Amino acid sequence: MKIIGIETSCDETAAGIVEDGRKLLSNVVSSSMDLHRIYGGVVPEIAARSHIEVINGVIEQSLKEARCDWQDIDSIAVTYGAGLGGSLLIGVMAARTLAITKKLPLFAANHVLGHVYANFITATSLPGYNVTSSPKFPMMAIIVSGGHSQLVLFYNHFDYILLGQTQDDAIGEAFDKVSKMLGLGYPGGPAVSAKAKDGNPDSFNFPIAKMPGYNFSFSGLKTAVLRRSQELIGEDYTFPSIKLANRLNEAQKADLAASFEYVACKTIVEKVKEAVNEYSPSSVVIAGGVAANRELRRQLTECIKSPLLMPDIKLCTDNGAMIATLGCFMSEFKVKQADPYSLDIAPNLTI
Ligand code: KG4
Ligand code: ZN
Repeated sequence: MKIIGIETSCDETAAGIVEDGRKLLSNVVSSSMDLHRIYGGVVPEIAARSHIEVINGVIEQSLKEARCDWQDIDSIAVTYGAGLGGSLLIGVMAARTLAITKKLPLFAANHVLGHVYANFITATSLPGYNVTSSPKFPMMAIIVSGGHSQLVLFYNHFDYILLGQTQDDAIGEAFDKVSKMLGLGYPGGPAVSAKAKDGNPDSFNFPIAKMPGYNFSFSGLKTAVLRRSQELIGEDYTFPSIKLANRLNEAQKADLAASFEYVACKTIVEKVKEAVNEYSPSSVVIAGGVAANRELRRQLTECIKSPLLMPDIKLCTDNGAMIATLGCFMSEFKVKQADPYSLDIAPNLTI
């Protein structure tokens, strides 16, 4: 069974084709990131307009890359939430139209769950992808993205419990805000990570927020970076202020970035360690944009003794292949199909 997945929840227009929920046949991603850069973050209207402009080409390219045409495709899966309303609408309308005209079943995919399902891709016909073995249940998922920081325990497909989540900012959001504070640009995660390579993670002793259960908090850490930056320059420019970043030298920025990255990752890893001890999962997987972070991968590999699976970095940030994979399992597990005449978006959808 071949499923095409369409993803437009934020600033990436993406389509990917996956066979039997395991084999990656294509993964085409067109990002409008460059258009947002000068504004320091995603501008929803620009993202939506960009989706309209490129979505047909992205879908066509994903078929071409997979050496398929529509007769080979068995179903369509599309992200209907969570995400930016205007952006979601473009993917959903494209998928609905295709489901009607091509007479194909339609599956409404939860974006966050899609990130987790990137871990089920275990083979590919594409060059340049690292694939892992398939996760086993019970499976613990560490979901770390721009909008989510959650620990979820899956007993089986579509049978899961939320162990804990952030009580304020998501970890990716903290990376993005610290990047802005230090004047490192957008998108923040990779920028902070690149700067951190030149810094010493022990320079500043930032606190790890102590939260009950398996919950996280990142807003205190973000404020701690701001306070240390203000102390370093001897002025209390409040954020957002470009003056603050301009007064820090490159070595100070690198040390702040490295110390922040180390503690942000440790905040996640400490809770994962506790949860793994309590639940003894057969697999631990990471999912979402921050799963691309090398420091997080390093700390997890060092600290988690359970079988740890990490998707290829290209499958961590938003993509259509993860939505196609989720769609394959929705089909296999007889999850209710969406009505192509009425499927609506759900910007605030939760897991
Ligand atoms: O999953 P994703 O592409 O979109 C959401 O669903 O939110 O995640 C985007 C987030 C952004 O906050 C971005 O800064 C962060 O993932 N990110 C990273 C890295 N690559 C992307 N954070 C840290 N290190 C990275 N290498
Ligand atoms: Zn995402």
